[in-house]
Amino acid sequence: MNRAETVVSAMLDAIRGVIVEHDVTYEEYAIAKQWLMDVGEAGEWPLFLDVFVETTVERNAFRGRAGSAGTILGPYHLPDAPVLDAPFELPRRPDEQGEPLTLSGRVTDAEGTPLAGAVLDVWHADAEGFYSGFHPDLPPGIFRGKVIADAEGRYEVNTILPAPYTIPHEGPTGAMVAACEWHPWRPAHIHLIVDAPGHEPLITQLFFEGSDYLDGDVAGAVKEDLVVRPVGGRVEYDFALAPAEVPLAAA
Ligand code: BEZ
Ligand code: FE
Repeated sequence: MNRAETVVSAMLDAIRGVIVEHDVTYEEYAIAKQWLMDVGEAGEWPLFLDVFVETTVERNAFRGRAGSAGTILGPYHLPDAPVLDAPFELPRRPDEQGEPLTLSGRVTDAEGTPLAGAVLDVWHADAEGFYSGFHPDLPPGIFRGKVIADAEGRYEVNTILPAPYTIPHEGPTGAMVAACEWHPWRPAHIHLIVDAPGHEPLITQLFFEGSDYLDGDVAGAVKEDLVVRPVGGRVEYDFALAPAEVPLAAA
């Protein structure tokens, strides 16, 4: 059996098993079929998969990897955020609301050796829970930028504390969440991709102690190691990167 046949057969067997176990009716089958088409028509497959499936892929793919904990990327990363100038501050509007927050720490390899010039691509929602590039009220580029670590691997970036937010819930994904009587919230978080030559990029998020929905993230992406406690508006967090996986051809 090739890989596609192995995985697809297992998936179909799992679905058939659920139908039998739960006596799924023809009417329910028709509703599910229409819902699957609606998700596609609404362009919500990336959203649905990142909310309900990505965390399992991430936890499985990086199980046992050296270095700091990662978590899901989600659908709101924009790869072309600018490299900012020191002293680093994420772009904001002149009248930006929100509690000031300074995030700092060190980027090292998995053995603790500093990684000079490491790049931290940082993005997060505003104090109302909206992302620039995805919400019409925010000018492009707000709360997005790349920060560079110094010669000792130290980084520091000024921003604000983002708010918890709901995943979009007016479409078919939200209809499923409502039908299951779940909530659509994610706890407040800051996204980062930390990268340095010769190392695996670390895709991660930092969450805040005491934040609403920390124990009930709809995307299931919270890990204990990623929960930080701001003290006096400051958070210290060190990132350790795993060595790059050697491609088989070069081994
Ligand atoms: C996020 O982390 O921004 C996110 C993740 C999954 C779905 C929606 C948003
Ligand atoms: Fe997010």
